Amino acid sequence: MSILNNTDVNNAAAIIRKGGLVAMPTETVYGLAADATSDAAVARIFAAKGRPQFNPLIVHVADADMAARYVEFPPLAKKLASAFWPGPLTLVLPRKADCTISLLASAGLNTLGVRAPNHEIAQSLIRAVDRPLAAPSANLSGTISPTLAEHVRQGLGDKIDMILDGGPCLVGVESTIVKIEGDAVFLLRPGGVAGEAIARVVGVPVSNAPHTDSPQAPGMLASHYAPRAPLRLDAAAPEPDEAFLGFGKANAEGPNALNLSPSGDITEAAANLFAYLRTLDRIATTRGLKGIAAAPIPMQGLGDAINDRLARAAAPR
Ligand code: TXA
Ligand code: MG
Repeated sequence: MSILNNTDVNNAAAIIRKGGLVAMPTETVYGLAADATSDAAVARIFAAKGRPQFNPLIVHVADADMAARYVEFPPLAKKLASAFWPGPLTLVLPRKADCTISLLASAGLNTLGVRAPNHEIAQSLIRAVDRPLAAPSANLSGTISPTLAEHVRQGLGDKIDMILDGGPCLVGVESTIVKIEGDAVFLLRPGGVAGEAIARVVGVPVSNAPHTDSPQAPGMLASHYAPRAPLRLDAAAPEPDEAFLGFGKANAEGPNALNLSPSGDITEAAANLFAYLRTLDRIATTRGLKGIAAAPIPMQGLGDAINDRLARAAAPR
């Protein structure tokens, strides 16, 4: 470790274990890292970046063994990981049934993007925390990705707990993202590993999915948000035969109600959203209720994202 010492990494690991945010250098760009197994910590990433939407986040692991604890890791994934990891290749794979990584990191999808970064500091941090780290690029949403610690300081300096300065990022563009489905590999985002290099390893050309920054993001797959029970929005209170998703003072008592954040904290609400919707859906369907009513959520901070997801979940299908 050329620039940092172990004390810095250990301090950063302690911050992350407590749910904090640390910018870490990777070979591609600086990442805004948090404990991927904590809903609250992952929600804090979205809030700090001012991300208008819950795009899925890449989860950083030390190696393929660590990844295989959380996602299905078929032979093709093993082949790609042994060819390119550690390195700038993200593999989108199905979450295991017992996957303990926050649902927010998957943005409601059944898959997870995982990669092992090729950077001594990032590797040391993952191993010191001993958990996978969710990390999008460490920039405010819509601005250019940071390749120097100073870039991170300018954009996010007052919003995060620590910046690990590893000097300039060597790759400088984000990782290549591929989705593995059976024997097929789809290119979701071009990046640090060339498509041809991947095709050589796979043995067949990689299908070129249209270039988009959030190819399978929630907005394109509305049904992923749709609970089985109908959802009624902007409800001040539930009707007698409805489950209720409360927020702040729009609260309901009883076994069929949950409150996203009794104190009205929008970041906490975001952290709870997917898990609470799932629970209320189970309650509504098993108890024969006619649907779920959801309290109004203010359009501030992550409120845009929450309302976007709720609107999709409530949309006619
Ligand atoms: O190089 C990189 O990939 C950097 C460093 C920090 O590792 N990270 C990065 O993260 O670029 P971010 O959040 O800027 O880009 C994440 C993108 C999402 O917008 C989405 O396109 C894709 O990764 N992604 C993540 N998980 C996915 C999933 N389960 N399905 C489809 N796409 C996914
Ligand atoms: Mg980004």
